[in-house]
This record gives sequence, structure tokens and C-alpha cells, in this order.
Amino acid sequence: PPAPSIADRLLAHYDAHARTLPWRIRPGSTQQPDPYRVWLSEIMLQQTTVAAVIPYFDTFTRRWPTVDALADAADADVMAAWAGLGYYARARNLLACARVVAGEQRGRFPDSEAGLRALPGVGAYTAAAIAAIAFGQRAVVVDANVERVVARLFAIGTPLPAARPAIRTAADSITPNERAGDFAQAMMDLGSSLCTPRNPQCLLCPLRSDCRAAQSGDPAAYPVKPAK
Ligand code: ADE
Ligand code: SF4
Repeated sequence: PPAPSIADRLLAHYDAHARTLPWRIRPGSTQQPDPYRVWLSEIMLQQTTVAAVIPYFDTFTRRWPTVDALADAADADVMAAWAGLGYYARARNLLACARVVAGEQRGRFPDSEAGLRALPGVGAYTAAAIAAIAFGQRAVVVDANVERVVARLFAIGTPLPAARPAIRTAADSITPNERAGDFAQAMMDLGSSLCTPRNPQCLLCPLRSDCRAAQSGDPAAYPVKPAK
């Protein structure tokens, strides 16, 4: 049989160590994630940490359990519930998006990246994340954590931001056809737990044997910072 791929190794690690987060379903569960909850979490996580998002996510989903409920909310109630998360344009786009989905799409989120990308407040990253996590589409999901992990795996020596196209191509090359959503979240988890900016814990990492930066002896040198 072929040797396990990077995705195989990472998914096995994720099955054992995935963070339990309120918008996630258990890996391997036959349950399907709720696109509304995936979308809401991804919008909240755009410029805010997981720890800060959790209580807001719980408040929002208790008060507005569906996209139709959120679409019917008063603007002032949503803005007040958002207070403290910052970047208030996100909250205005959130409501605009909920009203488009409820009003024009019978409460159903589009399942393709292109369809998602057309919604207010949904950029390329968020569209890819929702397509993969909520709909199981094979999408290449690259946030700052994933960018760091990929730059290290392939020891990409071009400085940021010029390295971004090579990082995307490399991320595409390791994205599996199955479980792309779990794979994306496993990469995010690796970037926030072991493959951290300053002190990557390579000895604990399931990808160490695949990682050119770890083999170089100075993994924290990647991604290479822009010259000042
Ligand atoms: N950051 C953005 N999306 C995330 C997710 N689904 N899980 C963990 N961190 C994230
Ligand atoms: Fe990151 Fe080290 Fe794992 Fe490579 S081996 S992906 S540098 S934690």
C-alpha cells in the first residue's frame, strides 16, 4: 500500500486531538455541520481569537438559532450583541448576508465557493472555509496559521508576501479530496497548538517526518519575513 500522505497523518492526529468547539461536529461523526453555524463562526473568527469568539457564538446561536431568525432581528439588537467583538462592519455585513440568504435563497447557504463568495462579508478565505467545513467541498483554505504551517512543511524561502502564490500551490498539493473540512481545521489547530510562530513543538508534531523546515533545524525561520 502507498505510504500515508501528509493529509492521512494529519487527519489521524485530528481524530485523536481535535479541539471541541461549539461550531464543530466530532470528527468521524456522521452528523453534518450546520452551514449557518459554520458561517457565523467563520465571520466571528475573521479578526478575533477562538477564545474570544466562543461566548459570542453561544449568545448568538441561542438567541438566533437559524439564519431566518437572524435575518428577522432588529439591527440595533444585533449590533448590541456584537459589542465587544470589534470591526463592526462585520456585524453589518452579517445581517446583510443573513437577509440575502433568508430572503433570496429560502434560508439555504450556497454550497460552492463562488456562490458563497458573492455574499456580503464573505471573502475568498471565508468562502473556502465554509465550502470545505459545511459542505465537504475540496477547497484550499489558507489563513495565517495555515500559511505558516505550509511555508514550514515545504521550507518556502521566498519572503512574504511574495511567497503567497507558492504557499497556495503547496497547500493545494496536500489538500485531500475527502474530509477537506476536517483537513482545513486540523491545519488551523496545528498552527495554533504545535506549529506556533516562535517555538514550534516539532518533536510532538505528526508531520515532523514530512517537514523540510523541521529537518533544516530552524523551523521558526519560516515563513521568511519581508525585508524591512
Ligand atoms: N479559525 C477560523 N476558522 C476556524 C475553525 N473552523 N476552527 C478553528 N479556528 C478557526
Ligand atoms: Fe511545524 Fe515543526 Fe510540525 Fe514542521 S514539524 S509542521 S515546523 S511543528
